[in-house]
Amino acid sequence: MKNFLNISDLSSNDLRSIIEEAKARKQKRENFNKSAPDKDKPFEGKSMAMIFEKPSTRTRMSFDIAVKQLGGSSIILNPDGIHYGKGNETLKDTAKVLTEYVDIVMLRTSSHKNLEEFGKHLDIPIINGLSEQSHPCQIMSDILTFEETKGSIKNKIISWLGDGNNNMSNSLIEAAGKFNFQLKIGCPKKYSPSKKMLKWAKSNKASILITSKPEEAIKDSDCVMTDKWISMNDKVNQNAKKKDLKKYQVNNKLMKIAKPDAIFMHCLPVGRGEEVSNDVIDGKQSVVWRQALNRVHAQKSIINWCLN
Ligand code: CP
Ligand code: NVA
Repeated sequence: MKNFLNISDLSSNDLRSIIEEAKARKQKRENFNKSAPDKDKPFEGKSMAMIFEKPSTRTRMSFDIAVKQLGGSSIILNPDGIHYGKGNETLKDTAKVLTEYVDIVMLRTSSHKNLEEFGKHLDIPIINGLSEQSHPCQIMSDILTFEETKGSIKNKIISWLGDGNNNMSNSLIEAAGKFNFQLKIGCPKKYSPSKKMLKWAKSNKASILITSKPEEAIKDSDCVMTDKWISMNDKVNQNAKKKDLKKYQVNNKLMKIAKPDAIFMHCLPVGRGEEVSNDVIDGKQSVVWRQALNRVHAQKSIINWCLN
């Protein structure tokens, strides 16, 4: 079964083929209506079930549109409205039932273990639509957005500022190892990547620099990325964390240290005035809306990869 749970699970070749298919499919549908199917309709007669344990705008919309563009259909399940590990129905039983009804499952979960548990009992592929550990679909779409704007990401400098130990930064570290770009993470020591991630980076020869100086992290950068300081279900003292991360805010003063043609990326939703200033996210270097759109295109080829 080909599940898409973490970037680190896939070979560099497979990840590259997903990006190239996304570029090719996107190009072929110029001037199509937003939800019109691609000519070959590879998902025709098939369907995806999506379960969201946490809120979502982009993942929810972009998967629905992705499935429509592939010629199939999707159904969104609210865990509160179904027997989802509640009453007498275990996650295993839910997985067995979904296997009978649909062709692929997408799960956004508060516990990565649920993805693994579900995956174990499904006879169809499962895609990680964000867990507390990783957000691989977002990072794949960000690679696509980077390459559309600036060409091959190989050997480019990507900077990450703020919380260095969340789902987005974990997937970005894995992507640095697989796509061979240089990743510079600027964060306080307290919010550095976990030992597990650092071990993975080392054994996969990922080029990662971790510094507590935001200026060092952003210097000569081709792309500056950040994320909300307080992630969904992040059980921290929010005020203390915001104070700790204050000097890592991406603003015009910091952006001047990056390359003059550097782009700014954010997965959204955004804490305006916190991790990024309004003039940067609304400014010329920002590609955040294109990132949101590209979720559709990256996820179409992730679905195809899982099913082929
Ligand atoms: N970037 C992202 O995953 O957004 P949503 O939480 O809106 O899905
Ligand atoms: N790190 C953020 C990403 C949101 C898309 C969170 O988990 O809330």
